[in-house]
Amino acid sequence: LLSVDAGNPAHAVSPILPGLMFEDINHSGEGGIYAELVQNRSMMASDTTPVHWSAVGAATLALDTATPLNTALNRSLKVVLPSSAGAGNRAGVSNDGFWGIPVRPGTSYTARLFAKASRRIGPLTVAIESADGRAVYASAHVPHIGTAFPGRPFELTLRTGSRTPVAGDARLTVTTADPAALGETLWLQHVSLFPPTYNNRPNGLRIDLMDKLVALKPKFLRFPGGNFVEGNTIATRFNWKNTIGPVWERPGHMDDAWGYWSTDGLGLLEYLEWVEDMHAQPVLAVYAGYSLKGEHVTGDALGPFVQDALDEIEYVTGPVTSTWGARRAADGHPEPFPLEFVEIGNEDWFDSSGSYDERFAAFYDAIKAKYPHLKLIATTSVTSRTPDLIDEHYYLAPSAAQASTHKYDNRDRNSTKVFVGEWAAQEGRPTPDLNAALGDAAWLAGLIRNSDQVLMECYAPLFSHVRNNVWATNLIAYDNLTSYVSPSYWAQHMLTSRLGNTVLPATARALPGLATVATRSGNRLYLAVVNCGTEKVTVPVELKGLAKGVKRQATATVLTGPSRATTNTLTEPGTLVPRTSSVTGAAASFTSTVPPLSVTVLELVLT
Ligand code: AHR
Repeated sequence: LLSVDAGNPAHAVSPILPGLMFEDINHSGEGGIYAELVQNRSMMASDTTPVHWSAVGAATLALDTATPLNTALNRSLKVVLPSSAGAGNRAGVSNDGFWGIPVRPGTSYTARLFAKASRRIGPLTVAIESADGRAVYASAHVPHIGTAFPGRPFELTLRTGSRTPVAGDARLTVTTADPAALGETLWLQHVSLFPPTYNNRPNGLRIDLMDKLVALKPKFLRFPGGNFVEGNTIATRFNWKNTIGPVWERPGHMDDAWGYWSTDGLGLLEYLEWVEDMHAQPVLAVYAGYSLKGEHVTGDALGPFVQDALDEIEYVTGPVTSTWGARRAADGHPEPFPLEFVEIGNEDWFDSSGSYDERFAAFYDAIKAKYPHLKLIATTSVTSRTPDLIDEHYYLAPSAAQASTHKYDNRDRNSTKVFVGEWAAQEGRPTPDLNAALGDAAWLAGLIRNSDQVLMECYAPLFSHVRNNVWATNLIAYDNLTSYVSPSYWAQHMLTSRLGNTVLPATARALPGLATVATRSGNRLYLAVVNCGTEKVTVPVELKGLAKGVKRQATATVLTGPSRATTNTLTEPGTLVPRTSSVTGAAASFTSTVPPLSVTVLELVLT
């Protein structure tokens, strides 16, 4: 029997559930939600070769550190053009993008690039072409290239025709056929190509991925990681001051936690605008003096890192009259961003030196002194100060996630509140299968039931490119053209979109294998039931404490599939999707039958 007390809510559902967590892993940012299509646009990804760049025609390519664009992009791509016209009469370079450049019909692409040559030449043609170079899908020209880099990049619009095929393996080329260019040298830097972006932001985000995130109605975005904020070493941390300003003045850094170059084009301001576009709030993770390979900072040496965090908070929230608020305004966003939560580091339980207590205290004291209203999140337990929340991470086998639905039921209600800042039932690659989704649903039901304790939660990781799946199980996956969501995405969507604002006390008797949560807003009662077993279950439901009755007509949303291993893929994205239907027979006492391997949310109307 599932007995629900509809008249006496246990507590409010936390108003800051659910959220999202993002770090650049599995090409989540570069080649992922950050819409840049050129890989290694800044030529900074390798010190020895211009990776992802190839010669077109008889050009020869090299990295040229003697010809920097500026101090950040301290090199350029040197293109020595052939001295005599050969077949095809054009020469230059091509970029292969992130496993190909995606192209679609009737679409405008924005190219930006810096170019200069050993003598004035032109025109320079920028084109999106088929992989074999036989088809030109879109092109535009820079009429003349001078002998010095311009102050700003050349900007071109490349528009594909209505008959352009959809292709994922195109190339971006930059070439010239000017006879005057024979034997001359061309230098290129910051060669960029953007498709249309979400909200048309010039340095923006991929529309299909943003649409999927916005549909989850997240209350916050935890960023920039994860291990990405720490780096393997202090030098490769997310150094936010290198991630603001014109993108061609950002040096980028090695994302050595996950093995690829980050241009930091997705920098602090872009994260904040992403949050703004989702109508969510930021959960800002600041670097806290510890990197993954064990480097850590203590004592006076911590000072500059604490100051960096204070400056970062000022960049986010400060008025335009403040130093860093003025920088934000100069970067294009005069309005301060709202900020309530700051996380100090990431998974500092890995710091075997035990320095976190000291580091947390240093950040806590400085931040609270200047910004007493901010809520500070610790990443492991500390005794030096009392954090406002503690971030706990759980990567579990599906069966463990299912069993952990009761983890917070008997928690000391007076202890520090929890932010489950990373969690996932892990099974399936690159996205979870149904079994994992059931584990996730059971776990999330427990978090919602206990959201007087667990104020915030976010699944992790969020994204994987299908061609760079270094972390097995992720919520959403994609190639350069299309994306799909996992059954776990749908389970979370169901539980958090069909959710009241109060949690109702519920007791389940003799219903093994089921996880439940009941919530209510006004006259809507939501009953979520997760059946992790392979048999259908008949659930007698009793609603107590009703002012009057229940409408017979209700709505049932069900996610289910034929086996635990069933999943969605890039080619079969719709194998598992929730189905909503009208059901009758709801009453103060009624019976609901939930299918095997299913998540069900019943929406009942109280009279
Ligand atoms: O989400 C993947 C990684 O798992 C995160 O970077 C880290 O915080 C955790 O160990």
